[in-house]
Amino acid sequence: MVKRNTCVFISGNGSNLKNLIFHSRDNIFPIKISLIISNNRKANGLIYAKKYKIPFILINTNFKNYENKILFNLRKYNIEFICLAGYMKILSNSLIQNFQKKIINIHPSLLPKFKGLNTFSRMLKNKEIKAGCTVHYVNEKLDAGNTIVQKTFFINKNDNEQILKKKTQKLEYRAFPEAIIKIFRNF
Ligand code: GAR
Repeated sequence: MVKRNTCVFISGNGSNLKNLIFHSRDNIFPIKISLIISNNRKANGLIYAKKYKIPFILINTNFKNYENKILFNLRKYNIEFICLAGYMKILSNSLIQNFQKKIINIHPSLLPKFKGLNTFSRMLKNKEIKAGCTVHYVNEKLDAGNTIVQKTFFINKNDNEQILKKKTQKLEYRAFPEAIIKIFRNF
């Protein structure tokens, strides 16, 4: 199987990155993680880049031309596919247009509900019955591209933000690989 050269963008903990690295080591998983980009030099996820010897690039989004550095490296590593795994910055329209239908994101809510930040506190405040995660294509609007995979669970009355996060992430570790398999099955 030809594996697609993939870049994973992170900002923090990197547990989804770790999970994707784990899956990508399987011969029949359709992607190879060839590059990791972080906008946070202290991101815990960089541990996995080092441990598994995957090239990584740090970007400083305070610099005006930081997207040029991203595009340069995406080309340098022949990147064909991008996974946003806890990347907490918005990509520019030009980057999205360069990778039409080739960028996916994982979001900790049942989109279109609770786009943006602080999803769990807003869910609890809203007395939601269900929570979950969504893997979706990235387009020019925030958390608004077509859904690829969505997974749901029922919220218990004792669930707080930490518990919701834990339950959601457990589902994310299934949803992200499933979405990638689904995308490349149709190629
Ligand atoms: C994940 O739960 C992901 O859904 C969320 O950040 C977390 C990153 O965790 N993403 C967003 O909120 C994007 N708007 P990780 O660094 O352990 O993978």
